[in-house]
Amino acid sequence: MDKFVIRGGNPLRGTVRISGAKNSALPCMAAALLTDHEIALDNIPHVRDIETEKRLLTSMGAEVRIGTGEASNCTTICCRNLSDPVAQYEIVKTMRASSLVLGPLVARMGLARVAIPGGCAIGGRPIDLHIKGLEKMGATIEQAHGYIEARASKLKGTHLVFDKITVTGTEDLLMAAVLAEGESVMENCAREPEVVDLAALLVAMGAQIEGAGTSTIRVQGVKSLHGAHHRIIPDRIEAGTFLIAGAITCGDLIIAECNPDHIRAVIGKAEEAGARIDVLSAHSVRVQSDGPLRAADISTEEYPGFPTDMQAQYMALATQAEGVSGIKENIFENRFMHVQELVRMGANIRVDGRTATVRGPSRLSAAAVMCSDLRASASLVLAALVADGESILDRVYHMDRGYERIEEKLRNVGAEIERLGNVFAPRPAEARAK
Ligand code: UD1
Repeated sequence: MDKFVIRGGNPLRGTVRISGAKNSALPCMAAALLTDHEIALDNIPHVRDIETEKRLLTSMGAEVRIGTGEASNCTTICCRNLSDPVAQYEIVKTMRASSLVLGPLVARMGLARVAIPGGCAIGGRPIDLHIKGLEKMGATIEQAHGYIEARASKLKGTHLVFDKITVTGTEDLLMAAVLAEGESVMENCAREPEVVDLAALLVAMGAQIEGAGTSTIRVQGVKSLHGAHHRIIPDRIEAGTFLIAGAITCGDLIIAECNPDHIRAVIGKAEEAGARIDVLSAHSVRVQSDGPLRAADISTEEYPGFPTDMQAQYMALATQAEGVSGIKENIFENRFMHVQELVRMGANIRVDGRTATVRGPSRLSAAAVMCSDLRASASLVLAALVADGESILDRVYHMDRGYERIEEKLRNVGAEIERLGNVFAPRPAEARAK
């Protein structure tokens, strides 16, 4: 298992380029299931989750060629010869977003078998709303042997109101609705930029969609979809993570090839915490800080609110801010796995239910710490960048799920970070036995 060795203390200076959004690339790749023509996608990030999605689509008979070299190189997917509409447990268990194939498979093939995702590090994360929506569109759902089987000879347009805002749920049912018979009206939809990006691809494929990016989406079903060429939006969570990296290290970073509009909530909080942010263009932002940082509260919300996927990284910043920062996690239960590791590095954090209270500033000292999920890993990297001495981060495979060449990008702007590969690390059971 790879590890990162990070020596803290360097301010980050220079320019960092943001990759394509993993959370947009995943549904856009799944959308290729809706047509037997080729879908070409630019700006697919080279991260582990994309490899997993490729494995998933390939296991169903799709031809997937991931663009190599520069991230912007074109990836092509062709689902002409789909043979097996099954998302196997072996794949789903490593990437919960695999449930995004449920809607497109039923819409295109009339049948989908998708393994039920297990619990994961950040809470139960059910897919009941995906299932409920498909049932409303006329699918029959059965559950057996750990799989959900959805069948429908033809999905029917419907009026549905999501009980709760769900990002992948909105995307999954949007993909189902585009090939359903008649009109679908979906209310209380997620308004995330990734939903808008998926809708743009679907429209380029011939779908009729109105309202993506608002809470009500209307779809007129069409008989079939054609091929399309689409560019994936920049990753707003990667951009936000580098914004915090610039602020926490008292650096001067230009974050290029991002969409500043998509990170307004993070920009607002970083400013409140004392960083200077300049939006240089529609594609770049500069962050500067010469300290001291000030405490500011955050409360995670659906877009356009402060993203839950930035909560852990913001907490690292809060450990360096003067005063008391309240951090409320409203989207997921149990998303404070990074707290214990930050505390081991010297942070002063108390958790009470869904609220963490951070008292700062704390002098962080380097330690051996364990990554528990994707964004928690990012939080530990940020803490290590300002800690006194050399930290060792274990299980960086979590980070590799969603951050492209993170150590290279950080090194280019002055961080001391090294990857140790193939290092022996005991498996959890062995570790517990000792
Ligand atoms: C997506 C993102 C993830 C982000 C999250 C919230 C992808 C691939 N992942 O995850 O990075 O953290 O949005 O912004 O885009 N829920 C239900 N029933 C369902 C579906 C969801 O109760 O059927 C609940 C969840 O448990 C959670 C809340 O709804 O409490 C929001 O989850 P959701 O928006 O679905 O998250 P994901 O789409 O899985």
